Amino acid sequence: MQDRPRRLRRTPALRALTREVRLHPEQFIHPIFVHEQEGETPIATMPGVSRHSIAGAVQQARTALALGIPSVILFGIPDHKDALGTQAYADDGIIQRATRAIKAEVPGVTVITDTCLCEYTDHGHCGPLCEIPHVQGPDAWTVDNDPTLDLLARTAVSQARAGADVVAPSTMMDGMVGAIRAALDEAGFTHTPIMSYAVKYASAYYGPFRDAAGSTPSVGNRATYQMDPAGGHREALREARLDVQQGADTLMVKPALAYLDVLKVLRDEFDLPVIAYNVSGEYSLIKAAAQLGFMDERRTVLETLTSIRRAGADAIITYHALDAARWLREDR
Ligand code: PBG
Ligand code: ZN
Repeated sequence: MQDRPRRLRRTPALRALTREVRLHPEQFIHPIFVHEQEGETPIATMPGVSRHSIAGAVQQARTALALGIPSVILFGIPDHKDALGTQAYADDGIIQRATRAIKAEVPGVTVITDTCLCEYTDHGHCGPLCEIPHVQGPDAWTVDNDPTLDLLARTAVSQARAGADVVAPSTMMDGMVGAIRAALDEAGFTHTPIMSYAVKYASAYYGPFRDAAGSTPSVGNRATYQMDPAGGHREALREARLDVQQGADTLMVKPALAYLDVLKVLRDEFDLPVIAYNVSGEYSLIKAAAQLGFMDERRTVLETLTSIRRAGADAIITYHALDAARWLREDR
């Protein structure tokens, strides 16, 4: 028989030699939740993930770097939340202080800051609210787009001033990338890249994150700004194109797994790096199944991360980052 694909599967060395997709810790971005309290608070819906103090966040960054993961993304959880999310753009806000501490103590780490207001607003939305005319009840509220742009621009500049290497706006406001680019340039941060959450769906998979960040909306619906999961590739291309035109340095698809087709489309269509966000709910599904003994965690995680790379992601934001880096190291 001439065609026997199994010839190349006979030994681990042959499989490795002919493998098309590889995972490397340099492609992982380790997410860190930072709060203003002392010590560590485990997040019940994300086994193995905690909110950390600033000292704890520094330690997390150090651990990531030691495992070969040079990038972290920070999410701040302030003690004080208000209608305008003022702690997001305070120069002594939690994310600004954590950024300064990490850059001072572990300078080899690339600090990416989530640029959004939902962890900082008392209503849990990604910016200040306005009413939608002629709609009644709790769905009458949405985020006021243009005033939010101004606050996001201030947030990004204060993060850059604190030493953030990259800012990552995640609000899905129209014009957010352009507003942030203009403000960064004006403040002298012409070399600070914008990692735009370009294609972000209104997803049930963010449930555990909102628990972690205390950002479950009290009224209204994120579907008035995040994308409809049933939207097609045209809408994804449009969102990505708008961000490219406004100066985005990288694109993102979020969540990853239920949207691998979208990831592939962006990979094929644009020449920017594409980041995948393997979100909290995707993490917790595997964690919970593994804890119940239903799945082998290590194999499931590495296969999942490989699938995200195969679909076209250059890098992956994932809560599995530290574990996966350890497993990859053991495999070598
Ligand atoms: C904030 C933000 C969210 C996530 C990252 N940045 C939550 C949201 O939009 O509700 C979700 C991350 C995750 O689920 O892991 N804009
Ligand atoms: Zn937000």
